[in-house]
Amino acid sequence: MARYARVVGWGKYLPDKVLTNQELEQLVDTTDDWIFSRTGIKERRIVAADETSSTMAAHASREALELSDLKPESVDLIIVGTCTPDHIFPACAALVQDSLGATKAAAFDINAACSGFIYALATAYQFVAAGTYENALVVGSDVYSRILDWEDRNTCVLFGDGAGAVVVQASGSHPGSLSFVLGNDGSGASTIYTPGPCGVNDGRYYLTMKGPETFKFAVNIVCEATRQAVAAANLELSDIDLIIPHQANTRILKSAAKMLDLPLDKFYMNVERYGNTSAASIPIALCEAIDEGHIKDGDKLVLVGFGGGLSWAAMVIEWGRG
Ligand code: UT7
Repeated sequence: MARYARVVGWGKYLPDKVLTNQELEQLVDTTDDWIFSRTGIKERRIVAADETSSTMAAHASREALELSDLKPESVDLIIVGTCTPDHIFPACAALVQDSLGATKAAAFDINAACSGFIYALATAYQFVAAGTYENALVVGSDVYSRILDWEDRNTCVLFGDGAGAVVVQASGSHPGSLSFVLGNDGSGASTIYTPGPCGVNDGRYYLTMKGPETFKFAVNIVCEATRQAVAAANLELSDIDLIIPHQANTRILKSAAKMLDLPLDKFYMNVERYGNTSAASIPIALCEAIDEGHIKDGDKLVLVGFGGGLSWAAMVIEWGRG
């Protein structure tokens, strides 16, 4: 019998503290108008002093497990996409496992920066569809407020904190993932990066980004990866009901929509409220698109992400809890 994997539960967590563009005007030489017109961002969320990627991931995971009617002890695998883990080791996933009481689960992180959630989802699908595991928890969680230079207006206005999670479960009938494309171009590693304590560096661990280069890469790769994933699923772009892209900048998505010759409303967007939450942005957007009624059973979705690496990832999903 064919064995598939599909998403049966989802959840998200956003810290309570809202940081508006107006508040940023007090921190750096910027304006609400500059930020909104260049990025589409109005506000973002910032963690409290006692919150981390693992605590946010655990919140989002609990919501996803509840919706799936799944006990933590029934989770076989936890993968967290993050590039801002609480520690160098153990993995963020190990802390999530403990927090949930998911005592049976294997646990590891994937660092593919903003593409991390799709990398993690594709990995989980492989384990589940192969019959190795029955239930996998896949999380994207990042706390960029802790790696930003709050005096650098080029970067600090762009990002926010958050987490999103899904439960992937085996299915005998529902196809779930139809295709995925994962890629990386390490020659672009210095385009957007954050040094760490294990490298050769000056001990300043702030995110650095070549904005315009990243922008150009992003527009091209959103189009290319989407086209490739759709073709690999034996579909046409016109078959796609909704694209859930990495939420970095509305201008990136406007340009991609134009290049793909798709109406902008095919792209779900919530960057206005959260900024760029890195690996969390796609699962948070997925949760909100479902909650707002934009996704129904049988819909064909493209998830598409890009970021540090330079990494990219796209996946076509036939939606339905089956
Ligand atoms: O998750 C993936 C990672 N990131 C991305 O996808 C981001 C991709 N890049 C972008 O979204 C855009 O490149 C930015 C939003 C970062 C910048 O927009 P841009 O239109 O490419 O602006 P720019 O970097 O060319 O800068 C234009 C001007 C510069 O001033 P000068 O040199 O022309 O006088 C910047 O110094 O805007 C200035 N600037 C700002 N001004 C006010 C940069 N940041 C700010 C700011 N407020 N916050």
